[in-house]
Amino acid sequence: MDDSRRIELNNGVAMPALGLGVFLAPAAETADTVTTAIGAGYRLIDTAAAYLNERAVGEGVRASGIGRDEVFITTKLWVKDFGYDAALAAFEASNDRLGLGHIDLWLLHWPLAGEFHRTVDAWRAAERLLAEGRVRAIGVSNFMPEHLERLRAETDVAPAVNQVELHPYFQQAGTRAANDRCGTITQSWAPIGGIFGRKPETTPEDVPHPLAHPVINDIAGRHGKTPAQVIIRWHLEHGFSVIPKSVRPERIVANFDVFDFALSADDIARIDALDTGHRAGPDPSAFTVSTYPVDIDDQ
Ligand SMILES: NC(=O)c1ccc[n+]([C@@H]2O[C@H](COP(=O)([O-])OP(=O)(O)OC[C@H]3O[C@@H](n4cnc5c(N)ncnc54)[C@H](OP(=O)(O)O)[C@@H]3O)[C@@H](O)[C@H]2O)c1
Repeated sequence: MDDSRRIELNNGVAMPALGLGVFLAPAAETADTVTTAIGAGYRLIDTAAAYLNERAVGEGVRASGIGRDEVFITTKLWVKDFGYDAALAAFEASNDRLGLGHIDLWLLHWPLAGEFHRTVDAWRAAERLLAEGRVRAIGVSNFMPEHLERLRAETDVAPAVNQVELHPYFQQAGTRAANDRCGTITQSWAPIGGIFGRKPETTPEDVPHPLAHPVINDIAGRHGKTPAQVIIRWHLEHGFSVIPKSVRPERIVANFDVFDFALSADDIARIDALDTGHRAGPDPSAFTVSTYPVDIDDQ
């Protein structure tokens, strides 16, 4: 893979900049989806214990025939397993379900701001697994600047990645700056606005889905690209890692076809100007073990 398609993490590990997300990819479809994505050139797959499809991700990688070291697998520790011993046990369970020998990047899925000691204990477990070579990099997800600062004050290893809600309508300048101060790569979830498809009520009636926004469509038309390709390219131009999800082969292929054009400074500025400052997903400061109930043990 050419270097422009990779991002170097703070411990020297190279991570593909563009990957496939599999949140809400049904487990029965996920293996084929992953195999299709690898065939289309993807080398990063983003799953989580809470997505209930880690086994299928492992199957898809094995079925693709690609060497284990050619693909980068991210999974996430669910909040119910925060704590030192619980995190270590949950890591083993994820690693067994994936069945790929090791995990490339392991993220704490959400901060537990109200029980931050559990977040810290989970991070210490991640630090141990990193030191033991069980995982190549460790990071966090949905951490706001105050959560990052607290983690940095109370633990040793700076997160390699902070995966956060980030799309043209919610651009997270403050969190990006905090990530930069920690040497932490910003990775965008719901990058093309997937959260608006799931929660239409979060988009006011007079505001279109990001993929339907006239500015995005104007830029897409001028480059002969699709709105999704323009937004994915916008993330890459900013230096973010980006993990669009699709289970449809034609979209999986198209979402990766973003390396043959570049956005102008004016294009980027026009998309930057779409920021509303309002998140559509959950508020990380208020996230608790019961915010998003999911039974991850029976899988
Ligand atoms: N850390 C976290 O808390 C967190 C939270 C949410 C997501 N994530 C990660 O981020 C990944 C991406 O985020 P996301 O899934 O929320 O949203 P997204 O990638 O912005 O959007 C996905 C949605 O857009 C559709 N889509 C994909 N490509 C398209 C295209 N070219 N044209 C039109 N529609 C298209 C998909 O439908 P089809 O599948 O039918 O194509 C799906 O409904 C997730 O899969 C997950 O890995 C992490």
